Amino acid sequence: MSMHNRVADPRQCSAGGASRPTGKVYLVGAGPGDPDLLTLKAARVIGSAKVVVYDHLVGDGVLALVNRNARMIYVGKEAGNHSLPQDQINDLLVELARTGLDVVRLKGGDPFMFGRGGEEMEELLDHGVSCEVVPGITAACGISACTGMPLTHRDHARSVIFTTGHLKDGTVNLDWPALARPNQTVVIYMGLGALDIICRELIAHSLPGDTPAAVVHAGTTDRQVVLTDRLDRLAASVKRARLKSPALIMIGSIVSLHALLGKERQTEELALTA
Ligand SMILES: C[S@@+](CC[C@H](N)C(=O)[O-])C[C@H]1O[C@@H](n2cnc3c(N)ncnc32)[C@H](O)[C@@H]1O
Repeated sequence: MSMHNRVADPRQCSAGGASRPTGKVYLVGAGPGDPDLLTLKAARVIGSAKVVVYDHLVGDGVLALVNRNARMIYVGKEAGNHSLPQDQINDLLVELARTGLDVVRLKGGDPFMFGRGGEEMEELLDHGVSCEVVPGITAACGISACTGMPLTHRDHARSVIFTTGHLKDGTVNLDWPALARPNQTVVIYMGLGALDIICRELIAHSLPGDTPAAVVHAGTTDRQVVLTDRLDRLAASVKRARLKSPALIMIGSIVSLHALLGKERQTEELALTA
């Protein structure tokens, strides 16, 4: 569908007495950073947008694809430093759509993976604004591919869990017994601030201390850093290396494959002791 198609929505808003059709909001996944990982649809929608509302994690290479005449609105969302609270982002999207413009809401990774895409879509639909999701490559998939750590592998992990280390109420109260099961890969988004608690709890719930683990900073970009270590040493190694957000934590024996499968792509290695 073209960006310039208007929504056939019977609910229209009235501005200055004249009734105009409400624009549509595209929730677009920008992937983990490398613009080559965008879907064709995302690239097309981004390139023809007249207004783009974007997050902190959207890579420069992706932003470079936005039409130079488009209005760009940064709404932030670094950990602990939200430029605009979520309810104001929701209101902004509704307001912009009500001006009759189609809006691209650009989010890092995939909009429906720890990206509040579901919350934004609910709000938009509640306000009678049409919304379409354009999926993106989530950090786990992008990083798995470019570090040579397959999320599943018949000899290592038959299941994979994606979870967040940063809960809405500020706690790290995760389902530790489920995360500590053998033969699985655990991928933790937004977990850097709670890494020591995560490692400690997993070990306390019977995951061996020598389980291979990794933290990947700025995965898929030319700033990517991969740090690997045993689970019981990971938090201390990351502290020493002063790794910063965005960072993804990967835990499980698939991390040991990085030494072989990750050779294909040059990346900064901080440790490989696992
Ligand atoms: C708010 S979540 C958004 C996740 C996103 N929707 C996705 O599908 O990847 C932000 C977290 O995703 C992870 N993340 C996203 N992009 C990353 C990248 N390029 N490298 C490492 N971690 C990344 C980090 O854990 C970061 O704190």
